[in-house]
Amino acid sequence: MLEQIVQIVSNERDTDQYFRLVLRAPQMASLVQPGQFAHIRILPLKDALLRRPFSIFQVEGETFSILYKTVGKGTEVLARMRPGEELSAIGPLGHGFTVPKQGGETPLLVAGGYGMAAMYLLAQRSPQKGIVFVGGRRRADILCEKEFHALGWEVRATTEDGSHGEKGLVTQPLLAELRTPHSALRTFKLFACGPTPMLKAVGQMAEEFNVPAELSMDEHMCCGVGVCLTCVIPVKDGDGWEYQRTCTEGPVFDSRKVSWETAK
Ligand SMILES: Cc1cc2nc3c(=O)[nH]c(=O)nc-3n(C[C@H](O)[C@H](O)[C@H](O)COP(=O)(O)OP(=O)(O)OC[C@H]3O[C@@H](n4cnc5c(N)ncnc54)[C@H](O)[C@@H]3O)c2cc1C
Ligand code: FES
Repeated sequence: MLEQIVQIVSNERDTDQYFRLVLRAPQMASLVQPGQFAHIRILPLKDALLRRPFSIFQVEGETFSILYKTVGKGTEVLARMRPGEELSAIGPLGHGFTVPKQGGETPLLVAGGYGMAAMYLLAQRSPQKGIVFVGGRRRADILCEKEFHALGWEVRATTEDGSHGEKGLVTQPLLAELRTPHSALRTFKLFACGPTPMLKAVGQMAEEFNVPAELSMDEHMCCGVGVCLTCVIPVKDGDGWEYQRTCTEGPVFDSRKVSWETAK
């Protein structure tokens, strides 16, 4: 883990509310594992003390990028920043995804909204190709479809308003895939990042079909380094449960360990 002043190489709109930010971070970029995140201090922001966590989307040479949605004051200020300006970053942070092995289980990646950012690096680093299920409210929420295709992955898109791909929730085509007769002949592993109800549904399917699953539990975070305990979730421990920090023990957890019954 490093703390660095990083320089903006580019910061361009992707679709509607989503932006791609490329940062020059020579030492940090080479350490990144899929599913890890960077904790970014937006220096021009008035209350710049609080950092914002973002999944690391792509790594190229001395740079890494994030794919972010403008949702509030931090990301709105970030969207106005220009190449050459600087941010403070701590990273790479957290416990990421297990990269699938060649000849192992077929990976099924499930992503909602900005969750697609966490999935791209996993798809890129995985020698075993599989299917990416991407979902959002509308067409503008479907990101990186072309990039996943370019990596040789099959992509199934869903939108709630039907403006792109199948109409409905991202878990529908996933359920259909798990139910198809040929699926009984293959072994799968699920990887998911997105809104909590989506993660819960993926966790339930994993249990129903007896498929292993890793879920990225993106909780609100303050320190990002295991000190403040704002990011905890209940995790099963023997017959009971205990709190674990999503910033250090997570954000990626084995779905069988997440204690949904005791979650807020
Ligand atoms: C591990 C992790 C990885 C993340 N990766 C990405 C990513 O790749 N791309 C991306 O766009 N966003 C990502 N997020 C969410 C991102 O951190 C928040 O959207 C951001 O902090 C909002 O900052 P803001 O100042 O613009 O919003 P604020 O003004 O602080 O809040 C505006 C709204 O955003 C909501 N919000 C704030 N923090 C979060 C959060 N952690 N999760 C969900 N909603 C939040 C608030 O509840 C509020 O409704 C990630 C979060 C975590 C914990
Ligand atoms: S954000 Fe402080 S302990 Fe996780």
